[in-house]
Amino acid sequence: MAVLAAAAGSDAAVRTVGLAKTYRSAHGDVLAVRGLDLEVARGEFFGLLGPNGAGKSTTIGMLTTLVKPTGGSARLVGHDVVTEPVAVKRRIGVVSQNNTLDRQLTVRENLEFRGRFFGLSGRAAVRRAQELLDLFDLGGRAKAMVYELSGGQARRVMIGRALMHRPDLLFLDEPTAAIDPQTRINLWDTLRGLHEQGQTIVLTTHYMEEAETLCERVAVVDDGRLLACGTVAGLKDEVGPGTLVSVTFDGPADPVAAAVRGRAGVDRVEVRGATIRLFVRSAQNVVGDLVLAGVAVGLTVRDSATVPPSLENVFLALTGRDYRE
Ligand SMILES: Nc1ncnc2c1ncn2[C@@H]1O[C@H](COP(=O)(O)OP(=O)(O)OP(=O)(O)O)[C@@H](O)[C@H]1O
Ligand SMILES: [Mg+2]
Repeated sequence: MAVLAAAAGSDAAVRTVGLAKTYRSAHGDVLAVRGLDLEVARGEFFGLLGPNGAGKSTTIGMLTTLVKPTGGSARLVGHDVVTEPVAVKRRIGVVSQNNTLDRQLTVRENLEFRGRFFGLSGRAAVRRAQELLDLFDLGGRAKAMVYELSGGQARRVMIGRALMHRPDLLFLDEPTAAIDPQTRINLWDTLRGLHEQGQTIVLTTHYMEEAETLCERVAVVDDGRLLACGTVAGLKDEVGPGTLVSVTFDGPADPVAAAVRGRAGVDRVEVRGATIRLFVRSAQNVVGDLVLAGVAVGLTVRDSATVPPSLENVFLALTGRDYRE
C-alpha cells in the first residue's frame, strides 16, 4: 500500500495495526476509533485531520498511553503502548488540547520541573529550560506566572515543556484551536522550525489549512475511520484534479445533472436538492454552461461557487459531506 511504503522501516516512529477504541458507557458503546493502520516515519511531520468527533484525540490518547486501546496495537519507536508504557512515555512529548501548565509555578519552573521529572540533573534542567526559553522567544516571560500568559505564549510554553527531555516524538492535539490567526501563524513557524531541526511531529487538527500548510503527510479521519492517507498533493490527485463547481438553482437540480453528466472534463456530478456539484478538470465555462442548462429547463441560478483543488474537495469526495471546521 502506498501509505505504508512512504514510511516503511522497522524503526518507524509510529506504527499502528487495527488500532481501535470503543468507549463503553451506560448509554451504549461509542466506536471512537475503528481499526486504524498508520505509519509515521522518523523525522516526518504528520497530521491527523478530521472534523469534531472523528476520533483524533482518542487516537493521540492511545499513542501517548493515556487511553487504553480496545483493539489492535500501536508501537512507538519500537515500543508497545500497552505493554511498555514507561518506555513510550520517555520517548514522547505531548501537548494536549487544553492548557495543562502548572498554575502555581512560573514559566521557568514549569519547564525545570518537567526536566527533573524526567531525570535531568538540576543543572541540566536549568540549562535545557533556558535553551527552550530562548528558542521560543520566552526569555522575557521566564518569571511570569502561567495565568499571566497570552494564549499563544501558553501554547509555546507547553511545547517547550514537552521538549524538555528531548523526546523522539512530539504530539500536539489541536495546537492552534481557539488561537487568533496571527498567533496561529507564529505557532506554525515555531513548529516548522522544530521540524527543520529533525523533530518528528504528529499533530491533530480540524483546520484543513493547517494540515495543508504544515504536514508532509496527512491522514484524513472521520467517524473513527481512516478515509485516506498521503501527501496533500497525492490526496488531491487521488480524488481527481478536482476543481469543485457548485451551483444552486431555485428548484430541484436533477434535470441539469442529466444535461452535464458525461460531459468531457467532468469527473463527478452530485445533486442535493437544488444544488448541483461538479468536480471538473477545468472550471472554464462550466458555470455558464450550468446556467444555460438551467434556463433550458426553466431554472434560475440563486448561488454559485468555484473552489480550486483543496483538501476540502477531497473530504467532500470521500464522504459526500461538506467539511465543517
Ligand atoms: N471518555 C469518553 N467516553 C465516551 N465517549 C467518548 C470519550 N471520549 C471521546 N468520546 C467519543 O468518542 C468520539 C471521538 O472523540 P474524540 O475526542 O477522539 O474526537 P476528536 O476527533 O478529537 O474531536 P474534536 O475535534 O472535537 O476534538 C466522539 O464521539 C466522542 O464523543
Ligand atoms: Mg479532540
